[in-house]
This record gives sequence, C-alpha cells and structure tokens, in this order.
Amino acid sequence: MSAENPAAGTTTTAPLPSGEVDASAPLLELSGVDIAAGDTLICRDISLTIRPGECHILLGPNGSGKSTLLGGVMGIHPFRIVSGTARLAGRDIAEMTVDERARAGVGMAFQRPPHLKGVSVERFAHAIRAKAALSSAASDLGLTHLLERDVNAGFSGGEAKRWEVLKLALQGPSLCLLDEPESGVDLQHVGVVGDAVNRLLSEPDRSGQPRGALVITHTGFILDSLQADIAHLLVDGRIVASGDPREMLDSIRRNGYRAA
Ligand SMILES: Nc1ncnc2c1ncn2[C@@H]1O[C@H](COP(=O)(O)OP(=O)(O)OP(=O)(O)O)[C@@H](O)[C@H]1O
Ligand SMILES: [Mg+2]
Repeated sequence: MSAENPAAGTTTTAPLPSGEVDASAPLLELSGVDIAAGDTLICRDISLTIRPGECHILLGPNGSGKSTLLGGVMGIHPFRIVSGTARLAGRDIAEMTVDERARAGVGMAFQRPPHLKGVSVERFAHAIRAKAALSSAASDLGLTHLLERDVNAGFSGGEAKRWEVLKLALQGPSLCLLDEPESGVDLQHVGVVGDAVNRLLSEPDRSGQPRGALVITHTGFILDSLQADIAHLLVDGRIVASGDPREMLDSIRRNGYRAA
C-alpha cells in the first residue's frame, strides 16, 4: 500500500466548454479539491482520478469526510467544491447545479436517503422515464412489494438501501457514487445488492462508455460481489493512503485506521 495516491493527477486534460464530452478523458478527475459543508471546510486537497470501467473504494473512520466528498462531487446542498478542479469526462463540474451534474452523468446512492412524500416508486420511475425497466430491476433487488409506496415511506433500513441501488439502476449514471450501499442490509441481501451494483457497472452507460464508481464501505462485504480496482483511505478529510482494497481492509481490521 502506498502512502501516496497512485490514481491521483496522472492524467491532466484541458477543460472543455460546457456541454462537450471528451470520451478519452477520465470519468472523474479531482485535483487539489477542497470541499466545505456550509462554511466549514471538511475535505482538503483531494486528488483522485477514476477512469471509465474503474471501481474505487473509499474507506475511513466515522466523521472523516467520506459522505462529504461524495456530496461535493454530486453537488448536494450544503456541500460545495471551494477550490481545486473537478472534471467529469473533461467538463468542469464545480459550478454546475446538482441537476446539471445528474444530467451530465453523476448519480448517487445516499447513506441516509430522504423520504419523498407523495412520490411513489412507480411515479419516480415514470418521472425519470425508466418505467419500462422498473419491474425487472425491482425484482432483481427483491423490491416488487414497494412499487406503489412513497419513496422511503417506512422502508426498512435494508429496503431503503436496496431502493437506492434500484434508483441508480433506473437512472443509469456514468459515474456511480454509492455511500455504504450494504450497511444495514441483511446477509442474504448483501449479495443481492453487490450483484445489482456489479450488473450496473458491467453495462455501458448511455453513450456506450464503461461506467465508473466510487463506493464507500466500512465492512467490505460489497467486495465479495464487486471487482474493485483501488481503495483510498480518508482520515481527517485527506486521502492519506491508496492501495489494494482487500489489503487495506485487512490492515484496518488488524491495526486500525491510523496505521493502514
Ligand atoms: N452541514 C454540515 N455542517 C457542518 N459540518 C458538517 C455538515 N455535514 C457534515 N459535517 C461534518 O463533517 C464531518 C464529516 O462528515 P461525513 O458525514 O462526511 O463523515 P463520514 O466519513 O461519511 O462518516 P460516517 O462513516 O459516520 O458516515 C463530520 O464532522 C460532520 O459532523
Ligand atoms: Mg458517511
């Protein structure tokens, strides 16, 4: 395991005008990025490059800034990229709104997904023009009993997590951000979630390019189904090490986060 981030800053691309996509560019390229929650700086000097087809894992103790990093890339209030450069397929995303980023191909499965009062799962799928895919995707995740319920209205912890993966499967983003997708999911369904994420990542995006992912996990259970290329360790808002995902998890289990 290296103390530096081997995936960082190895490729630099010239910024593209808004709307243009460079198929040869990294899917996500963060260089020296700081992310604030409101006025509080949480993540500092983040450099990370995810190329099409790559799955990256993000590890770190509670409160280290993992969800903040994903929220900053997605552009969810109150998380803001306050310095550095952040590009999605060559396009600068720092000034883009959350819906512009979603349209550009970023999708996120939340750690604590919100309740959408008055919006059923079926209506949500209809609104994002994914109704045709709903039945089969819901069946894959064992969620066909939820289709008429409002999104996250009384979903169990595991149902809410599986819904987030179903939502991503319906949205079909190019860059999939998953915040602890297996947390709270029972042992039988952890494999179901892993398989669904794996399926999503093994299919090309709408432009025919391989998808990429940044996945937060504490347990590493998702690695039983998911082929991850590299893990990054976030401590106090900084990436302090990057390396083989299983080796890093083993090191954390044995020695804790500081020594990993
Ligand atoms: N809106 C906010 N305003 C101020 N501080 C915030 C805000 N949101 C998060 N933070 C703080 O940022 C730090 C990082 O939080 P974050 O949720 O990113 O951690 P995490 O690594 O995802 O932790 P966990 O493993 O528990 O999910 C925490 O100290 C948290 O209290
Ligand atoms: Mg979190």
